[in-house]
Amino acid sequence: VIEDVRLRKIIDSRGNPTVEADVLTWNGFGRAAAPSGASTGVNEVASFPDGGVDRVIEDIEDLISSEIIGMEAEDIREIDNVLKEIDGTDNFSNIGGNTAVAVSMATVKAAASSYNLPLYRFLGGAMPTSIPFPLGNMINGGAHAGVNAPDIQEFLVIPVGASNITEAITTNINVHRRIKEKIQKVDDTFTGGKGDEGGWAPNLTNQQALEIQFSACEEISDETGVLVRPGLDVASSEFWNEEEQQYVYEREGVSRSVGEQIDYIADLIDTYKLFYVEDPIQENDFVAFAELTAKCGDRCLICGDDLFVTNAEILAEGIEANAGNSLIIKPNQIGTLTDTYNTIELAKANQYVPIVSHRSGETTDETIAHLAVAFNAPIIKTGAAGGERIAKLNELIRIEEELVNPKMADL
Ligand code: PGA
Ligand code: ZN
Repeated sequence: VIEDVRLRKIIDSRGNPTVEADVLTWNGFGRAAAPSGASTGVNEVASFPDGGVDRVIEDIEDLISSEIIGMEAEDIREIDNVLKEIDGTDNFSNIGGNTAVAVSMATVKAAASSYNLPLYRFLGGAMPTSIPFPLGNMINGGAHAGVNAPDIQEFLVIPVGASNITEAITTNINVHRRIKEKIQKVDDTFTGGKGDEGGWAPNLTNQQALEIQFSACEEISDETGVLVRPGLDVASSEFWNEEEQQYVYEREGVSRSVGEQIDYIADLIDTYKLFYVEDPIQENDFVAFAELTAKCGDRCLICGDDLFVTNAEILAEGIEANAGNSLIIKPNQIGTLTDTYNTIELAKANQYVPIVSHRSGETTDETIAHLAVAFNAPIIKTGAAGGERIAKLNELIRIEEELVNPKMADL
């Protein structure tokens, strides 16, 4: 039984305020913090109500605690329903999706703790057997880096040949280091600066960054015997110009029509043997997403982040349209653990690969590591370097230690 709910204002990795929830039951305790995005999808729920985190602390805390104190922490579906009722809108604009998600996660963590179980065990029911592959961020551009960085937001890698989580994390870090050395050779203004997700933020074109990323993957694969492959988060909604109907690559000085964008991405997939491409097409274009998926979906994950925003209804439209074959799962895009779970289940039932993900503004909260394991997501996207990123990766090391005969997920 929930005895107390506390909300507090804390600071995220960009220095912005966010909300953390504490939930206390008579024999359990849970704490969770909400992250925040810089390149958010238009269809995400609202992060905070008017008045921001301060409003949440002043008014919303009392509203929520007066409703959920006395409820059973393990009845997470009911708790999530109550959060929606308190809010009363369809996008959490009254209490904030970040408030809801922090309370939802803290509640389920309190329930797990009252059973003396780690969260992944409590949520997963049976003992899980596999660990997700970490998709790590190597080079940052777009909204996560400065003006001279590439237009493409994230240059990522995934160590598909790793046989355990430590090897996987180490492989990503090896590539991260190798990429730094390579950037220094090409960009003589480079000071070692990083972007919001811990990838390097260099003065490079997309093409230069792709070459560096690709050759670093080849070298580390050869040297260590662990195959590591490149991927991208294009975050193309950020540079889609609706009026001109063009993808405007400012850093490159190039604009591409929808058809040209599809061809460009398909070409990158083959030239650089990309394992993964996220948001290669802007968030409202299911048709072009479907076209690219038809072309390249047999050899590359075509992933929707801004496209689906962890929303089961939007995902259902995407499935209908054959748009993509993978999706990003960010609980604060939708606001509750129950809705997050429902979206993952719908994805799995339709062979869409779910990828549990951090956001660019993070805290040291490690909850998503547990969600990825509990819900059997084969991939977790949570950076490669920096305290708020390794908080999740190090938690996976601890979780792997507890599993019986753990293996890496099936990709
Ligand atoms: P965001 O970006 O957290 O800034 O929205 C991350 C992403 O696009 O994957
Ligand atoms: Zn994204």
